[in-house]
Amino acid sequence: MPDVFTLNDLISRERLDAGEDKPAKLAVIGHPVAHSASPRLQQPALDAVGIDARYIRVEIEPGHLRDAFDRMRALGFIGCNVTVPHKFEALEACSEVHPEARSLGAVNTVRFDADHTRGFNTDGPGFVRAIDDEFGQPLSTMKVLIAGAGGGAGQAIATQCALQGIEKLVIVNRTVDKLEPLLNRLVALGPTTEIIALSFDDPLLAMEAHSVDLIVNTSSLGLKKGDASILPSSCLKAGHLIYDTIYQPAVTPLISSGQSMNCRTANGLSLLIHQGVLAFQHWFPQTDPLSIMRQAMAD
Ligand code: ATR
Repeated sequence: MPDVFTLNDLISRERLDAGEDKPAKLAVIGHPVAHSASPRLQQPALDAVGIDARYIRVEIEPGHLRDAFDRMRALGFIGCNVTVPHKFEALEACSEVHPEARSLGAVNTVRFDADHTRGFNTDGPGFVRAIDDEFGQPLSTMKVLIAGAGGGAGQAIATQCALQGIEKLVIVNRTVDKLEPLLNRLVALGPTTEIIALSFDDPLLAMEAHSVDLIVNTSSLGLKKGDASILPSSCLKAGHLIYDTIYQPAVTPLISSGQSMNCRTANGLSLLIHQGVLAFQHWFPQTDPLSIMRQAMAD
């Protein structure tokens, strides 16, 4: 069996399930998708709950998501996760979208019900749980700075912060123009949150950073060996909470810099786990796979 299936494989059960004990009924769709950790998270939960299903990876070219959904429905799939770069296209391809996912502008979880292809977003709510879990304090009570807010993850987390009604949100991006669509979405939500948009070379950056409780890295800076920290240490102070959405490496340059300044830090593993738990619960309500998924990632 291939590690990664394609649209062409979504034509028959024989093609998907030859030589396997369990039928493929859930998947993560992305491009690329080979690196996705979702099967490592979801398969142990399926097995523990006793669901006779395999969770597979499917690589789909942009522009073919609707076709992929139609084929999965026809094959009797329960649902799927959707990852980069398909989260916006997924919102368009669903016949019904949960209001929270619509506000966040992205769908990462799909359920194939008899009447509808339903889209949800568990990244935003997963972030709320991850912050509570890591720091024992609700996101809604924090002032937040998001570094790298122009990408998909940054936009979802920034929007979730506004939906939580936080007092102050500072969004920072290398290309400040890329914050425009996000600002428009935040304004349309009509949040009470004070919103400040900055570039990394803005002279106000350090002062604004010192005014927040929580700093979040949603950029890809820190993934590669030799990457710099997304923020200079002049932006950090003792007492800051620092969350890096990257989980590999576990200690990013931002986390390392925060640790040396006595900040409390956490990496993106908890976000990965909580978004996975919430997705699983959309497919299988009344289950609680949190401890199984935690254990699976620890292994
Ligand atoms: P996604 O695929 O999630 O939509 P992406 O294109 O990978 O996003 O970018 C994620 C974020 O990382 C963006 O905010 C990006 O900044 P730009 O919008 O200016 O491109 C940010 N990013 C990536 N590399 C960076 C770097 N070297 N310095 C600062 N920000 C960086």
